[in-house]
Amino acid sequence: MRDYKRILVTGGAGFVGSNLALAFKRDLPNIAVVSLDNLHRRGSELSLDRLKAAGVEFLRGDVRSPDDFAAAGSFDLLLDCSAEPSVHAGYDSGPSYLVDTNLTGTTHCLEAARRTGADLLFLSTSRVYPIKRLAALPLVEHGDRFVIEPGSSGPGWSDAGITVDFPLTGTRSLYGATKLASELLIQEYAEMYGVRAVIDRCGVLTGPWQMGKVDQGFLVLWAARHLYGGPLAYMGFGGTGKQVRDILHVTDLYRLLRCQLERIDDVSGHIFNVGGGAETSVSLTELSALCREISGNSIDIASDPETRPADIPYYVTDNSEVSEMFDWAPEYGVEAILEDVHSWLVGNREMLAPILGPVT
Ligand SMILES: NC(=O)c1ccc[n+]([C@@H]2O[C@H](COP(=O)([O-])OP(=O)(O)OC[C@H]3O[C@@H](n4cnc5c(N)ncnc54)[C@H](O)[C@@H]3O)[C@@H](O)[C@H]2O)c1
Repeated sequence: MRDYKRILVTGGAGFVGSNLALAFKRDLPNIAVVSLDNLHRRGSELSLDRLKAAGVEFLRGDVRSPDDFAAAGSFDLLLDCSAEPSVHAGYDSGPSYLVDTNLTGTTHCLEAARRTGADLLFLSTSRVYPIKRLAALPLVEHGDRFVIEPGSSGPGWSDAGITVDFPLTGTRSLYGATKLASELLIQEYAEMYGVRAVIDRCGVLTGPWQMGKVDQGFLVLWAARHLYGGPLAYMGFGGTGKQVRDILHVTDLYRLLRCQLERIDDVSGHIFNVGGGAETSVSLTELSALCREISGNSIDIASDPETRPADIPYYVTDNSEVSEMFDWAPEYGVEAILEDVHSWLVGNREMLAPILGPVT
């Protein structure tokens, strides 16, 4: 890996950003790590003490403002983890915050990287794939979940999941559009200015310090509700909870990013599909059963059959390309992820219940 001296993590008090900042600082203690965040996400403020205790510098700043990048000084690696990360964002409130943060923010990241000669790791999303195309996959019910019809396949998909070759024609939500547009700009900066950049289209990421809410972070929300109480509902697709996602522990993401940085010269400008894969996937109904088991609590889960505009019944990453290229595989299975989240919720109840409990 290049001999980095100073890492800037935008969104560095958020779930992914704070965990990555702390992991880099732990493993490379001689490198300065700076977390820049405007604390827009409720609960991100809870990360400030742990960042400080680990020697990560916190800078309150906004990626919408180029001046705030100037205030961050020079750096040689930029982890872009700032975003409005909900696929449901913008529907009720209008697009401004979402587009300004997720797209204009990326242009400011790119300019800062170009100016300082920094490498860039960008966390894109599976939500770049069009909603109607994903919703049209041939699904069948198998126990408590949907699965892709065994043995079937098409462009960019098979019963092993979705690859980067999945077609991009169609609409994908404003969230997905800001991420796809960001990807295009990043590739142009890589080509035109030589900014070394890797783009990871991530499925669901999860783990401790995710401030799960109804529209983003379902595993933590589910686990928290089983411990702290509060409403839960199976929303959409008939309200039976059979929708499926693969999940990836943030520690496994960190391990992959370290591998990618080792080979950034070879893989700059590339786009990868990154996720837990079929073996680390779960439906909501299956998750409820696991939460009941681990918490010892059984809670009522409502059923709301109406499907919201950006909802999809199934997304599982085919992570074979990234696994083979980097000799990487997720180490955390579904149960291990849930156990880690559960321990965090139990150990920090007083601090977390006001954010993740029934009042939210
Ligand atoms: N969590 C997932 O399942 C997932 C999946 C795919 C991609 N991603 C991407 O990973 C990245 C990190 O997501 P996350 O799950 O940690 O979300 P998060 O909401 O926990 O963290 C994002 C952080 O960005 C900060 N932020 C928001 N607007 C900002 C602005 N204008 N200026 C500065 N900071 C701002 C928030 O306060 C928050 O701390 C995002 O780019 C997201 O799109 C996440």
